[in-house]
Amino acid sequence: MSTFPGRNPSGLPQPDDDARVHAARVRSHIRQRIEAGDGWIPFAVFMDLALHAPGLGYYAAGSQKFGREGDFVTAPEMTPLFGRALARQVAEILEYTGGEILELGGGTGVLAVDILGELDHLGLLPARYRILEPSAELAQRQRQRIHQSLPTMIDRVEWMDRLDGLESSPAGFRGVVIANEVLDALPVHILAWRQEGVFERGVALKGDKLVWEDRPASCSLQAAAEGLGLSIADCEVPYVSEVCPAMTDLVTRLAQSIDRGAVLLIDYGFPRAEYYHPQRNGGTLMCHYRHHVHDDALFLPGLQDITAHVDFTAVAEAGVDAGCQLAGYTTQAQFLLNCGITELLARTPADDVAAYLPQSTAVQKLLSPAEMGELFKVLALSRGIDAPLLGFAEGDRIGRL
Ligand SMILES: C[S@@+](CC[C@H](N)C(=O)[O-])C[C@H]1O[C@@H](n2cnc3c(N)ncnc32)[C@H](O)[C@@H]1O
Repeated sequence: MSTFPGRNPSGLPQPDDDARVHAARVRSHIRQRIEAGDGWIPFAVFMDLALHAPGLGYYAAGSQKFGREGDFVTAPEMTPLFGRALARQVAEILEYTGGEILELGGGTGVLAVDILGELDHLGLLPARYRILEPSAELAQRQRQRIHQSLPTMIDRVEWMDRLDGLESSPAGFRGVVIANEVLDALPVHILAWRQEGVFERGVALKGDKLVWEDRPASCSLQAAAEGLGLSIADCEVPYVSEVCPAMTDLVTRLAQSIDRGAVLLIDYGFPRAEYYHPQRNGGTLMCHYRHHVHDDALFLPGLQDITAHVDFTAVAEAGVDAGCQLAGYTTQAQFLLNCGITELLARTPADDVAAYLPQSTAVQKLLSPAEMGELFKVLALSRGIDAPLLGFAEGDRIGRL
């Protein structure tokens, strides 16, 4: 059982006074929801509030989040070569399908800048680049970033804060959907398998403190648990892990909306057999606070990112059930190599040490199996594209899903 306030997972930097005041407001908002909800809310509701509550949640409010001054660094923040390599895959698809780009969860806007820049270089700019960004604060940052870096292209970029616009288009979507590190931010339900059955882990109050509390899982979560093929007899109980109906729902909606095109999903995660491995009995929940990683999700709500790894088998199933083809699944390293990231790096002369060294160090991080190369995966769903995709030309791992 974890508690708040007064908890500070060892080694974490102390928040300043303003941050503590903000966390207290977020906690008070969550407390009201718990009181209105029979003294308990599922963890998925807690995670959604802590990350997205309007004006309060981690993504909805104004903290730095990205980069050295923030809590974490994503691949496009490390080097423009990530976005440029991805743009090569995007360009290939757009040549087959025409249409536009839809990026989910645009972060600081840097990925849009790098993709548009490379497509311009290739002479293949789409007429429209849309960003689906639920955070008004981040959408504003993205607008500023793109305006500053690519002033002549800002008119091609449009923002939406929900998927409805895409789904209501009678012709369906044509082009490429991209999501880098978005699926891991979707709210997960935590399940605890015990001798007595499957329980759902949620958040309750003990006095003023937020505490963990398990309740018997709903019928739909019991069914989801049964569908995982986990042999609980082989596991130490309680076996704790997560399921993410929000992810299945999002992938289904995207896959259903596509008339002709592809969805490229990049994130950290595993195929199902690895995700629900008997030895992974604590789940995959991770929190990021000022470049410290820990697993205490109730710590200072609103001040830290909360994520879970992605079950890529679930992603593939949702896409295929919605009528898409599973067009590729591989590691980030293999995908970027297939897209030519080393040739892109070679555009900077190696003897220009000041320019070359930071780029080659970042590429090394993206490719190294010990860093992001193996844990991060890329999965492609497509409709109406018969040709194989560049990014999966070598090392496709569909057979492992
Ligand atoms: C970890 S950041 C990744 C940002 C960016 N893609 C990058 O790689 O730097 C997660 C992003 O997903 C957005 N996000 C969270 N939930 C979302 C959802 N349901 N649909 C679309 N974007 C979402 C967040 O607001 C944020 O922009």
